[in-house]
Amino acid sequence: MVNLSWGTLAGEQKVDTEIEAKPRKHAQGMRFESVNALVTGAGRGFGSLISIALAKEGANVVVAYNKSKEGAQKISDEIKGMGRKSITAKVDITKWDEVKTMTEEIWKNFGPLDLLVNNSGEVSSKQMSWREITEEAIDQTLAVDVKGTLFMIHEIGKRMFERKSGTIVNIASNVIVTGSPRAPQYAASKYGVIGLTKSYALAFAPWVRVNAACPGYMDTEATTTRKDWTPQRRKWIVDHTALKRIGKPDDIVPLVLFLASDDSIQMTGNIVIADGGFSMPGA
Ligand SMILES: NC(=O)c1ccc[n+]([C@@H]2O[C@H](COP(=O)([O-])OP(=O)(O)OC[C@H]3O[C@@H](n4cnc5c(N)ncnc54)[C@H](OP(=O)(O)O)[C@@H]3O)[C@@H](O)[C@H]2O)c1
Repeated sequence: MVNLSWGTLAGEQKVDTEIEAKPRKHAQGMRFESVNALVTGAGRGFGSLISIALAKEGANVVVAYNKSKEGAQKISDEIKGMGRKSITAKVDITKWDEVKTMTEEIWKNFGPLDLLVNNSGEVSSKQMSWREITEEAIDQTLAVDVKGTLFMIHEIGKRMFERKSGTIVNIASNVIVTGSPRAPQYAASKYGVIGLTKSYALAFAPWVRVNAACPGYMDTEATTTRKDWTPQRRKWIVDHTALKRIGKPDDIVPLVLFLASDDSIQMTGNIVIADGGFSMPGA
C-alpha cells in the first residue's frame, strides 16, 4: 500500500511495493518525443508559446481553445509543419459536458494523452479595483480557474491514472503569495488551483504527477493591454523585483516544460514560483 501522510482512500488501488520510476528514453533536447500533449488556452498568449515549445521537443499537441479559433488553427498548422501530429479542440472548460465530450473524442481520434497543461485562466483584466467587483466577475473567474481546471484534471487525469502514466502542469500565479487588492477573486481562484494541484497529486499518486507553475507579471497581451498598466506601475514593479525585470513569457515556458518532463521526476504537488524574486516566499 502506498504510505502517504494522509493515509489511503477507500476503494483506491493498492500499491504494495516501492515504485521504480521509469524515465522515458529520449534524445537530448527532445524530452517530449512521441508524447501526446494537450494545452488549454493555446490559441493565444502563453498557451501558444508552451504548445510550440513542446512540439519543438517532439510532442504531438492538441491545441485547445475557446474563442481563439484562428489562433489555434495557426499554432496547430505550425506544429504540423514541424512533422508532429496536431489537432485543434474547441472547449469551454467551464462546461463539464464539453470537457467530457472533447476528452472522449481525443482518446478516440488522437490517442491517449500523456501530458496536460492547464494554462487557461481568467484574470479579470478589465477590473481595476476591488471596488469594481461584480458577482458576474467572481463567478466567471472561479468558473474558469477553479471549476474549469478541475474538470480538465478530473476527465483527463482519471484516464491517465487508469493507464498508470501521465503528467499534469497547472498554471497558477504568484498572486498566491502576494494576494490581489485589484481582483481578490483572481487570487482566490489561483489559491484554488493550488488546492487542486495538491489534492490531485495525492489522489493520482503514484502514477500521475501534478505540479503548478506560478509566474509573476509577464509581458503578455493580458498584462500590457490593461488600463492600469502605466509606465509608473511597470517601473514600480521592476523596482520591487529583485532581478529588476518583468518576465517575458519565453522566460517562463522552460519552467513549464521542466515540470512537464521527466526532469522533475521526483516532484509532485509542487508549487514553483517564477517572478524574478518579486514575492520571494520564505521557507
Ligand atoms: N500574463 C501574466 O502576467 C500572468 C501572470 C501570472 C499568471 N498568468 C496565468 O497564465 C495563464 C495564461 O496567461 P495569458 O497572459 O496568456 O492570459 P490571456 O491572454 O488572458 O489568455 C487566457 C487564455 O485562457 C483561455 N480561456 C479563458 N476562458 C476560457 C474558457 N472558458 N474555456 C477555455 N479556455 C478559456 C483563453 O482562450 P480563448 O482565447 O480561446 O478564449 C486564453 O487562451 C493564465 O492562467 C494566467 O492566469 C498570467
